[in-house]
Amino acid sequence: MNQGTSSSTVGIDAIAIATPRAYLDLVDLAAARDVPSDKYTKGLGAIRMAIAGRHEDPVTLATDAASRLFARAGVDASRIGYMAVGTETGIDHSKPVASYVHGLLGLPAACRVFDTKHACFGGTAALMGAVEWIASGAARGRSALVVCSDIARYALGSPGEPTQGAGAVALLVTERPRLVELEVGHTGTYARDVHDFWRPLSRRDALVDGHYSVSCYLDAVAGAFGAWRDEDVRRGGAPLARTAYHVPYVKMAKKADRHRAIACEGLDEAAAEARFARDVGSSLAFAAEVGNVYTGSLYMALAALLHAEAGVLEGERVGLFSYGSGCVAEFFAGRVAVGAADVVESLALDEPLRDRVRLDFGAYEAIRRADGDEPAGVTADDEVDVASDRCAFVGVDAAERRVYRRATHGSTPRADAASTAAA
Ligand code: HMG
Repeated sequence: MNQGTSSSTVGIDAIAIATPRAYLDLVDLAAARDVPSDKYTKGLGAIRMAIAGRHEDPVTLATDAASRLFARAGVDASRIGYMAVGTETGIDHSKPVASYVHGLLGLPAACRVFDTKHACFGGTAALMGAVEWIASGAARGRSALVVCSDIARYALGSPGEPTQGAGAVALLVTERPRLVELEVGHTGTYARDVHDFWRPLSRRDALVDGHYSVSCYLDAVAGAFGAWRDEDVRRGGAPLARTAYHVPYVKMAKKADRHRAIACEGLDEAAAEARFARDVGSSLAFAAEVGNVYTGSLYMALAALLHAEAGVLEGERVGLFSYGSGCVAEFFAGRVAVGAADVVESLALDEPLRDRVRLDFGAYEAIRRADGDEPAGVTADDEVDVASDRCAFVGVDAAERRVYRRATHGSTPRADAASTAAA
């Protein structure tokens, strides 16, 4: 097993996140729904949720996250030989999000390109494939790009509404990674056929059996963590300094860590509370700002953890818990690389959260009611009103192909108009 000491380590070399420009404050949602705001802000732990606009979709969010990764980490795109997008926000029954992103980023033709879907677990499936591709030697020195990209939508006025969100996380996976050396082959998995959360083909909003979904998640924590720990004890693994969880809403990560502490590790309430504050708290800052980003949720938690604490965590082991409804879960671990703090500083992970626009409730509801109402009959020359450093969904053309336009960082959207669909 790779415990982060040999020259053959594999893991996460760089991370970047992307979110929509706009957000809704949960206090505004609570007022409109006539709910005490504490229920959302304290009961669920949600402060703001990102809302995708008319020109944002899983392709644009994935492209924005990957563009930031390339720009911030100085990635050589010609060295990418594997590019997978984890998503459950399908935009086409056949053509993958990954193909659009591959074209928009100008990645090499010699590249394995595909989407992975298993609810929120899709990103982890893509990551595990990338890690094993590199560890097997098949990569022959090339790197993998894994992008998790989703828009979480529940029906207006439903209990799930305050747990919406949108965003993407891009991960560069390499040998000798500069951020987190993953322990290849040492994971605990758990799967069960449950109907906790689903989205029929005809719907844009998810359906969920909310309280049941919470109990399915907790069962999965016990199953996956228990399997991982049994093997870890056999291997004599070092203690975990921190753990990042899948975060459908902030309170869920607290419930998860508490369940693991009390039901699996025999801690009492006070010890569980202290452990949560110390080991999990700092990973939740981005989720509180963005909401559920489905496939990217665990990796947004990892990004927040590194952003806050990479300096103190260098050389330490961190646990990672991924959950996808349906369901499947995986618990695994990695070691924060020595020198990670400098890399994290250069990545400016929180930058996309800084310059956002607060929607009022009316504007939010108008966006949601227009969901699925995509501009039709567009051409690649049509103007779109987007920020200069972003990729934009223009609409669908006469043949129902999706049209995108992408700007490189610092240039205008018109400067290098490009769209695989419109080409
Ligand atoms: P609800 O029934 O409206 O809320 O929906 P509640 O009554 O259970 O209250 C929530 C919490 O707020 C409770 O705390 C209340 O006590 C508290 P808890 O008991 O849980 O600790 N509360 C208050 N606190 C302070 N002041 C107040 C107040 N009032 C109440 N005044 C539910 C909650 C999570 C069910 C709902 O939001 C929902 O259905 N969300 C969507 C489903 C979800 O996120 N499930 C999580 C597990 S499944 C998962 O993670 C997979 C997923 O990401 C999808 C995928 O894999 O693709 C969703």
